[in-house]
Amino acid sequence: MAFSVITRSRSYDYNDAEDSVFGMRQDLTVQNLPTRRKRFVRRHSYSPYEVKVKTLAHHHQWKAPEFFCGAKLPPGRMVLHQSSLPRLPVPNLCQTLEKYLLTVRPLVDDTAFQKTKQLVEEFGKSGGLGESLQTKLKKRAQERQNWLDDWWLHTAYLDYREPVVIHVSPGIVCPPQNFSGKEEQLQFAAKLVAGVLDYKVQIDDQSVPIDKLRTQPLCMDQYYKLFLACRLPGDQRDQVVVYGPDCDDRPRHIVVVHNNQFFSLDVYDNNGKPLSQDLIHAQLQRVVCQSKDPGVPVGILTTENRDTWGRVYKALKKDKHNKRSLEAINKSMFMLCLDQETDRGADRWTSMGHQLMHGGGSQLNSGNRWFDKTLQFIVGTDGAVGIVYEHSPAEGPPIIALLDHMLDFCSQAPEVKGPSVQPMEPERLFFSLNDSVLEAIHNAKQNLDIQVQDLDLHLVMFKTYGKGFPKSQRLSPDSYIQMAMQLAFYKVYKVACATYESGSTRMFHLGRTDTIRSASVQSLKFCQAMQDSTVHPSEKVALLRRAVEGHKKYAQETVSGQGIDRHLLGLKLIAVEAGLDVPDLFVDSTYQQAVHFKLSTSQVPSKYDSLLCFGPVVPDGYGVCYNPAQDHLNFCISAFNSSWQTDTGKLAAALQQSLLEMQELLQTQAKL
Ligand code: COA
Repeated sequence: MAFSVITRSRSYDYNDAEDSVFGMRQDLTVQNLPTRRKRFVRRHSYSPYEVKVKTLAHHHQWKAPEFFCGAKLPPGRMVLHQSSLPRLPVPNLCQTLEKYLLTVRPLVDDTAFQKTKQLVEEFGKSGGLGESLQTKLKKRAQERQNWLDDWWLHTAYLDYREPVVIHVSPGIVCPPQNFSGKEEQLQFAAKLVAGVLDYKVQIDDQSVPIDKLRTQPLCMDQYYKLFLACRLPGDQRDQVVVYGPDCDDRPRHIVVVHNNQFFSLDVYDNNGKPLSQDLIHAQLQRVVCQSKDPGVPVGILTTENRDTWGRVYKALKKDKHNKRSLEAINKSMFMLCLDQETDRGADRWTSMGHQLMHGGGSQLNSGNRWFDKTLQFIVGTDGAVGIVYEHSPAEGPPIIALLDHMLDFCSQAPEVKGPSVQPMEPERLFFSLNDSVLEAIHNAKQNLDIQVQDLDLHLVMFKTYGKGFPKSQRLSPDSYIQMAMQLAFYKVYKVACATYESGSTRMFHLGRTDTIRSASVQSLKFCQAMQDSTVHPSEKVALLRRAVEGHKKYAQETVSGQGIDRHLLGLKLIAVEAGLDVPDLFVDSTYQQAVHFKLSTSQVPSKYDSLLCFGPVVPDGYGVCYNPAQDHLNFCISAFNSSWQTDTGKLAAALQQSLLEMQELLQTQAKL
């Protein structure tokens, strides 16, 4: 199995899972080195991580001179723990099947449930199909660092053919900043770039504090990719390229886009130090001077259906100027999008949500983007700031960590004047556009505008209380908020729906997420009771507590690698890989209903009032993301206008009402 070892200066791919650095062989220690190497390692006081890498390298005679005689490796604090991270487990089959039945119970009627029960029994019987698939899956898990990671990358991201914009790539709205007008926009943007480069220094030095879940260190793999990755469109499947931090060809530039025109900007000086803010500012002024009028919005092609864009990309690349420009964009560390003015209307936050998610349409800023690039920082002319990111390399939390750092930097750092060097002129990235590409751009504009019109978005700042209240009631804030969402949905639709909440599995090496299924038998009982005036309030409180505790238990199991969704997906995919038919269990209408997530939700906390916004995952569903602060709660709710069944305004009102009712219920009962 292929894996990578990333040092500060180079990434290496190897093909042997057993000997991977992260699943370190115990017998490979410094003691096993010949005396000459032992002395070398001790003389350079390498960390235990580096020693392990070097020992492995020596053991296999890897042709990687840096391991032995290159520049000293950085301290490696950020990756020191990776070698001790456990591997993602394959849960017990019976446990998953039992939990599956429990989670679908509130979603289907008795007849459907009985049929599903039979299918589950058949699948899980001793010597049955489930058992043989489970054996295959366990074998895969023994052979790989993470039995799921490449499957998940393909299934969730790279094989998905809908546009990444709205459907995949989240936008993150930062609290409005205090600037307005073009000149202040550029001053803030320069500060932002300096703040992001400041964070990148930490990543390069591997000194980013290790994320933790309580005391448990989490996998930091995603951090590396933030500045090195780019998605490329393909035919039927995209790819993510990760440009290793190679010595010779290490990316040193960012791409700035203004008025739909792209410029490559080297942001390091001759000593490899990030440019100072004033120099970045001067460079941005040059970019703006050279792009006074809107250019042809080539970037809008990245909002297309992936197969369509893949075809155009292939054609575009045939021209050598285009190829060079595409490479400059793909290899850039990140993009900076200097947006034109946007008419905000009455609801400023929601308007910023639109700008961050899709740019506002072909007449506004949607062509002022390159949606395949992992990180795009957006700076408007009226204090609007945020990110839109391509999701395949990372989840929200590493991006938020970067964003929080950047906001800290912008609010604290004094403007530092650098030495008066004259950096290279920003390089304009030219595109040669023939008629067929121009037609593709025309089509992309139309298609994007339809999508923009279809997005129903509602950002809600619930100010009455924050996560401090459920804590004061000895309830998990996350589970409590999830129950408020269940109640809101029930108020509007009078039924429960399959609900997805992202649970992080970064406790495991290369872990990403699994599904916390928030709709349960207990949550449905709680919702029904809340809508029934004959139920005594004390009974409602008991049902609320039971529902919250049930959710918390499910969440804890999920983050501990005992979720059911990725396991079921694994059983399905291993059957397909073995050339078998998809098992009946997955063709069952109950399963289809169980994965039709009308509520797709995620908690993405930030120390600022930032709010992540993503689209629904089904045509008749909602996407809900929340950032719970101590004394208030921020929500972003999305849906599609084309669905007659959804209405974000209605769900937002029901959610706020639910939160108020739940508080009143708990407070009144506490007084009795
Ligand atoms: N009484 C009092 N306090 C409680 C409590 C209780 N019964 N239960 C929990 N708390 C406290 C916790 O100690 C914690 O305290 P802190 O704020 O001091 O850290 C706080 O409440 C929050 O805990 P909780 O609300 O239970 O949730 P969590 O922070 O553990 O998060 C998940 C739960 C599932 C959201 C989290 O584990 C996770 O997986 N997050 C990643 C999601 C993700 O990847 N999203 C990105 C998608 S792009």
